[in-house]
Amino acid sequence: MISRNVGIIGAGRMAAETANYLKAQGVQVSFFADEYGKGQEKDNIPHIDILRIPRDIDLIIAVGDPSLKKKLVALVRKNNNKVRFISCICSEASGKIYLGDDVTIAPGCNLTTDIKVGSHVIINIGCNISHDVEIEDFTYVSPGVNIAGYSKIGKGVMIGVGATVIDRVKIGDNVIIGAGAVVIKDVPSGDTVAGVPARSIK
Ligand SMILES: CC(C)(COP(=O)(O)OP(=O)(O)OC[C@H]1O[C@@H](n2cnc3c(N)ncnc32)[C@H](O)[C@@H]1OP(=O)(O)O)[C@@H](O)C(=O)NCCC(=O)NCCS
Repeated sequence: MISRNVGIIGAGRMAAETANYLKAQGVQVSFFADEYGKGQEKDNIPHIDILRIPRDIDLIIAVGDPSLKKKLVALVRKNNNKVRFISCICSEASGKIYLGDDVTIAPGCNLTTDIKVGSHVIINIGCNISHDVEIEDFTYVSPGVNIAGYSKIGKGVMIGVGATVIDRVKIGDNVIIGAGAVVIKDVPSGDTVAGVPARSIK
């Protein structure tokens, strides 16, 4: 159950999108917070410094880049150990879905069954995630991505817009998958792959 009053970590366009998703669910957005908080309003919502987040507030992250996301979450937790992260699920999911904390599933996604999603994960608009897929913490799934059955996506992975990962593929931690790639075999941690079929471009 989502809370009624939420602060958003991030103040860019993804934050504006997330604010709209939350408003559509009847949630009041209290502020946008980042490292550059200027005390100005954005879309009539205050923009504050991440170090000035009030205690006892529910937060959601709206930052794609996994390494920046990791840094901001650590910063928030260091300064405010009472903070809670909540999720924003805008898509229907038909089967068993196991979610960590702070997961955004944007509109137009299809998730089938027996899917595990870690914490601080964003699955952006129009993605298809098939049965038995696992997506670990801090990963960002760009718009229009397809991930087929049994594939495992590691921590801090960035999957570019429109990419496809075929079934039973293992993607290591901190991998970058280029826009439009078709990943047909396992990718080791830290690699960058692109193209059809996807090959290392590192
Ligand atoms: C894969 C990616 C990260 C590579 O970025 P980069 O490290 O800066 O690499 P470069 O742009 O220098 O490109 C290196 C080579 O890979 C090729 N390449 C880059 N991206 C590619 C892609 N998506 N598909 C195929 N080839 C690609 C380039 O043409 C270049 O080839 P060349 O050496 O023969 O000229 C980036 O191009 C990409 O696709 N990012 C995804 C962005 C995205 O989807 N954002 C969504 C936000 S919501």
